[in-house]
Amino acid sequence: MDKDATQGAAGTRDGAPAPGGGAAAGDAWRWARAEDLKPPTELHTETAHPARMYDYYLGGKDNFEADRRAAEAAIAAYPALPLLARTNRAFLGRAVEYAAGLGIRQFLDIGTGIPAVGSTTEVARRVAPDARVVYVDNDPIVATHARALLAGHRDGHTTVLQADLRDPGAILADPGLKQAIDLGEPVALMLVAVLHFVRDEEGVDEIVATLRDALAPGSALILSHGSPDFAPRSSADEGVRVYSRASAPLVLRERSRVESLLGDFTPVEPGLVQLPLWRPGPEGPPEGWQAVSAYAGVALKV
Ligand SMILES: C[S@@+](CC[C@H](N)C(=O)[O-])C[C@H]1O[C@@H](n2cnc3c(N)ncnc32)[C@H](O)[C@@H]1O
Repeated sequence: MDKDATQGAAGTRDGAPAPGGGAAAGDAWRWARAEDLKPPTELHTETAHPARMYDYYLGGKDNFEADRRAAEAAIAAYPALPLLARTNRAFLGRAVEYAAGLGIRQFLDIGTGIPAVGSTTEVARRVAPDARVVYVDNDPIVATHARALLAGHRDGHTTVLQADLRDPGAILADPGLKQAIDLGEPVALMLVAVLHFVRDEEGVDEIVATLRDALAPGSALILSHGSPDFAPRSSADEGVRVYSRASAPLVLRERSRVESLLGDFTPVEPGLVQLPLWRPGPEGPPEGWQAVSAYAGVALKV
């Protein structure tokens, strides 16, 4: 990947606050490579992107014609996709609330997606107003939207890095991350609906191990992952084909492979389960949940 893509809070534009305290104290979402973002040309709107397809499944407006076409093709192959996206988002909220309830105050959310209601920041702050969040995504549209949010919501505790999960060493060494997160203290590492965009041959096991190893005891890994285990074979195959034409591969993994990504972390109850069944709350999982073909879990470093 482009080495510069992970070089910390590099600058500002469009009135975004200067990184590293250049704005008024306590007033900065910090930015990686903000000056390099030149929307819309860098957004490659002619190619479908997973962040914008996901936005479409969630009923968002931050998507382009190519994204909508690809998303519709994926939904035609696997009609439960919008439900999967919604239940995944709900899982993210419940898991963040759980981690904040454990006393974790630092959140590293890799594969953030386009900011939406129920973001990590929003949920974590409900429990812990002092929670710090670092968002990492390799899609420039995510940073562009986060920057737009920034304009109305400066809080001093949120950092956005445009960087690639496939280079975890660069993420961990990023000055922006180091400024925001103390790796000597517990962190909730969030890999929610992102690892299925990383192929085995790109080193998915080593990537997750590198991130796990960097965390202090008391940290949590919040993970969800697409799987073929609960979908008809033909749907899973067609979904993979649709994504292979978009800008990211889709690698659906069966249970044992997803479980192996937790490494030696200890899963909390109810363990790694079909996504809607992770602590669904008193109202239970939504109607049609059986079709949601993904796993979710939270595991702790003891
Ligand atoms: C399906 S969305 C999930 C968003 C959010 N985590 C959630 O669960 O609501 C996947 C996100 O991962 C990002 N992504 C995919 N591959 C990535 C990579 N190699 N590095 C960083 N981000 C990546 C995409 O741009 C997209 O925003």
